[in-house]
Amino acid sequence: MSQAEDHAGSRRDFLYYATAGAGAVATGAAVWPLVNQMNPTADVQAMSSIHVDVSAVEMGTQLTVLYLGKPVFIRRRTPKEIEEGRAVKLSDLIDQNAENPNLPAGSEAIDQNRTMDEAGEWLVMIGVCTHLGCVPIGNNSGDFDGWFCPCHGSHYDTAGRIRKGPAPQNLHIPVTAFTDETTIKLG
Ligand code: FES
Repeated sequence: MSQAEDHAGSRRDFLYYATAGAGAVATGAAVWPLVNQMNPTADVQAMSSIHVDVSAVEMGTQLTVLYLGKPVFIRRRTPKEIEEGRAVKLSDLIDQNAENPNLPAGSEAIDQNRTMDEAGEWLVMIGVCTHLGCVPIGNNSGDFDGWFCPCHGSHYDTAGRIRKGPAPQNLHIPVTAFTDETTIKLG
C-alpha cells in the first residue's frame, strides 16, 4: 500500500469513528444532566417508574434519559417526520408489530400505533438496537430519516421501525403515559 493510500484508509477510519463518537457524545451529554437532575443515586435502580419533564424538548429534537439502565429516546417529531412515518404502508415493514405495550398485543406497526399522542408528535422508544443491543444514532440518521445503528448497519425510520439491515424488530416502546401536558411517566 502506498503512503497516500494508507493515509486515505486512516482518514476513512477516522471519519467513521468520529461520526459514531459524535452520537455517543450527544447521548452522554443528554443523559447525565437529566440523571443529575433526578438525583437518582439511591433510588433509580429501585424505582419502577420515573417522571420526565419534557417541557424543554423542542420540535425536531430528542431527549435521552436513562431508565432501568437503558437509554430511552423521547423525540418530539416534526410535521415532516410525522408525514413520512404515516406514508409508509404496513406491507413495506420488516416488523409489522407495533412493539408497543401500551396497546393490545399484536397491534399493527402503523405510525399512529407508535406515538403517544394522536397528532403523532411524541415518540418514546427504548434506544437499544434490536439486533445486538447497540445504541442507534438519531437526529434524522440513516436511509429513512430516523435512527441508524452503525454497529452492523440497521436503519430505522421516523417512527423507529426497522426498514433495512439485520435488526429483526422495531425499536421497542416502553410503558409510557402523560401525567400532565409536559410530564411523561416511564414505567
Ligand atoms: S447492534 Fe445494531 S445493527 Fe447490530
